[in-house]
Amino acid sequence: MTARIISGTEIAQQIREELKAEIIHLKEQHGVVPGLATIIVGDDPASQTYVGSKIKSCQSLGIFSANFPLPNETSESDLLDLIEKLNHDPKISGILVQVPLPSQIDEGCVMMAISPDKDVDGFHPVSAGRMVAGQPTFLPCTPHGIQELLIRGGVETKGAEVVIVGRSNIVGKPVANILMQKANGANATVTICHSATRDISAHTLRADILIAAIGKPKFITADMVKAGATVIDVGTNEIGKTPAGKRILCGDVDFDKVKEVAAAITPVPGGVGPMTIVMLMANTVKAAKLAHQLN
Ligand code: GUN
Repeated sequence: MTARIISGTEIAQQIREELKAEIIHLKEQHGVVPGLATIIVGDDPASQTYVGSKIKSCQSLGIFSANFPLPNETSESDLLDLIEKLNHDPKISGILVQVPLPSQIDEGCVMMAISPDKDVDGFHPVSAGRMVAGQPTFLPCTPHGIQELLIRGGVETKGAEVVIVGRSNIVGKPVANILMQKANGANATVTICHSATRDISAHTLRADILIAAIGKPKFITADMVKAGATVIDVGTNEIGKTPAGKRILCGDVDFDKVKEVAAAITPVPGGVGPMTIVMLMANTVKAAKLAHQLN
């Protein structure tokens, strides 16, 4: 049996249609236009591609966007000044500072400077604390996108054994917190594996839902997956370029072999990736509503 493909491209498109309708309603009924500020420091090509996609997505949905590309040698205090200005700009509902940042800038300090009311990335410690406590907040985009993929992909999470491989602050830790909440689309029993885990396969083989977020191409092989499991591949490893210079991506899962064991699987590209951007758009709309007491 070959696994059912859970298409992030299709599910993201559904959510985009819902957001489009909501954005039109906000404008027509309340005169509110959501706005996203993107800040990118330096010229890392991958970061530029990601931010470019975020800006394009804003344009296609009717979200106002303002991009602030800053030189690599930008000082931390100049960046903090810009964030402070944007914190008070009524046209800006959400602020995104693309990471990684150059070494002279402290990432934690920058995330702390963004107003929690405009923290559409969900990286501020206040947002993280609220998430852990199960309080309403901005959820980080990739983990929230994974939850939406499971819900809309028809995968039962209640009581499921979820095993996450990778403990990053952006994916592993938050997705564990989200899926363990006592809530719809969650309520799972969650295990996180990492570089010091003694026997990763012993854990992954118990997983009803296996989430791979380690950043190593094809790390999850077919012998690590339980028959009938759902496999979510968060990996976006660049393994080369096409002659036209387009990045060739490979997931953390050995897709061709694992799809013969799993019941459902997300592809790379076209799985988690499109969900990350659409959840950023959803958070920006949510921030605009929050700013106008429309939640
Ligand atoms: N770099 C890689 N992923 C992300 C993300 O989701 N948000 C930000 N701000 N930077 C990133």
